[in-house]
Amino acid sequence: MVRLWIDLIEYHRSLDPDYPPLPNLRETLRAEARRGVDMEHCEVFVALSSSDGAADGLVGFLFAELEPRPAGVPVPPTGQIHELWVDPERRRAGVGRALVDEADAFFAARGSARVSVRVEEPNEAGREFWRRLGFRDRARIMERIR
Ligand SMILES: CC(C)(COP(=O)(O)OP(=O)(O)OC[C@H]1O[C@@H](n2cnc3c(N)ncnc32)[C@H](O)[C@@H]1OP(=O)(O)O)[C@@H](O)C(=O)NCCC(=O)NCCS
Repeated sequence: MVRLWIDLIEYHRSLDPDYPPLPNLRETLRAEARRGVDMEHCEVFVALSSSDGAADGLVGFLFAELEPRPAGVPVPPTGQIHELWVDPERRRAGVGRALVDEADAFFAARGSARVSVRVEEPNEAGREFWRRLGFRDRARIMERIR
């Protein structure tokens, strides 16, 4: 999974040279992947291929986290999709949609009616994918880099 996650980060870096640097990349991603598997409000979904995928069979992954509610706030939690990557060789075959469906079921089972994802501005293909799945723009993140 860390292997695919690094591909995802390199993809984002190729789109945007200001994509934030991550020190100790492998260790950080390994720890984050473990958090995704261990924590009750997180889940990691993977897509496996038994045929022509990579040696480990992993061709995609999604990292999902149910956003904790501030105590006493009577709104359902939001499901956050932090990461989604499908191996370029396996795209346009329904793998991304299947991973999102799994995350959706995970969130729904925990009372969440809203799923949210942050998409980087230059990732036009990514934005189109989310639109096809029924996602709509709701907010804009504005940044200034020193
Ligand atoms: C975005 C991504 C996950 C899509 O995965 P995928 O397995 O190819 O997607 P699917 O085959 O399940 O496609 C689902 C729908 O999105 C559409 N879609 C997928 N990629 C698209 C693209 N590049 N441009 C336009 N539409 C696209 C498909 O046509 C399909 O619509 P349909 O069901 O109406 O035909 C994959 O391209 C990827 O890993 N991209 C790089 C990383 C990335 O952008 N991740 C999301 C970051 S927020």
